[in-house]
Amino acid sequence: MTQPINSESYHLPVMLQEVTSWLAPAASGWIIDCTYGGGGHTHALLDEYHDVRVVGIDRDEDALHRAPTTERLTLVKANYRDLAHIVGTRGIPDRVDGVLLDLGVSSHQLDTAGRGFSYHRAGPLDMRMGRDSDTDAASIVNAASAAELTAIISRYGEERFAKRIAQAIVAERPFNDTATLALCIADAVPAPARRTGHPARKTFQALRIAVNDELDGLRDTMESVFDLLNPGGRIVVMAYHSLEDRIVKRAMVDRALACVCPPDLPVCVCGLQPDVKILTRKAVRPSDREVQANPRARSALLRVAEKVAP
Ligand SMILES: C[S@@+](CC[C@H](N)C(=O)[O-])C[C@H]1O[C@@H](n2cnc3c(N)ncnc32)[C@H](O)[C@@H]1O
Repeated sequence: MTQPINSESYHLPVMLQEVTSWLAPAASGWIIDCTYGGGGHTHALLDEYHDVRVVGIDRDEDALHRAPTTERLTLVKANYRDLAHIVGTRGIPDRVDGVLLDLGVSSHQLDTAGRGFSYHRAGPLDMRMGRDSDTDAASIVNAASAAELTAIISRYGEERFAKRIAQAIVAERPFNDTATLALCIADAVPAPARRTGHPARKTFQALRIAVNDELDGLRDTMESVFDLLNPGGRIVVMAYHSLEDRIVKRAMVDRALACVCPPDLPVCVCGLQPDVKILTRKAVRPSDREVQANPRARSALLRVAEKVAP
């Protein structure tokens, strides 16, 4: 085994069996795990496929500094948004056979109070996945206008009380810790809405997405990633909410598009040839058994596409 110590307490990998199976055609090539985290998927791939070489990327130094040094594993501390600049360096080829994106935060990040991701745990208002980034949650919460906060909370949190929450934040700021912010949010939403889940959940999700510029990063990556795959190479993406999944699905559908000529044209004039085939007609979800054992897996949506042309 090549697993890092305590990898399960760091993060329980989601749909492990499904991910290794979908990436089986890359078993003797190169796979890039763009979201190394606790290394669960990376090390399952290394253990199952003895000829595979894996590149583990993470923007969080906590993830990488506990990873074991293994001959077939290359670790890179970076934002996966820079993937096109990472291939072709450090002995990694220009094109690879598999790419994995397991989006969002790890259990370690969520459960470590000092990282400031959790509305359940008192901690600094941080939420940066990579601590070398300049923008943290406090800088957004304490400086953005009410209109900007409303837009962030509504767009990235899909929170219907975004305006009330933003106004309450502006009235009561500055905030320096998660607990005080979570209380302010809870007070801002009407009492009936407080009964369905934690009232700060969606706002915290929105702030995390904004702090880490997650959706723009994913969009950029999905636009460029297919060009980094060898023919037959696969990309596997696990999203945890509809905003991410929509970007993944759109990018796959766009690249899998064949002729876009109007149906009444007798012959194709657009000449559009798809270079990607979608292998999952609908997003794959974890089994009930997995969700029971790991409730954090419950919202996972897995999609796979394969490069079919050079
Ligand atoms: C859900 S966890 C991955 C868990 C991992 N698959 C495992 O089995 O342990 C997501 C990880 O991706 C990292 N991450 C998120 N966005 C990133 C980005 N844009 N660039 C690099 N790493 C990112 C996070 O820091 C976190 O460690």
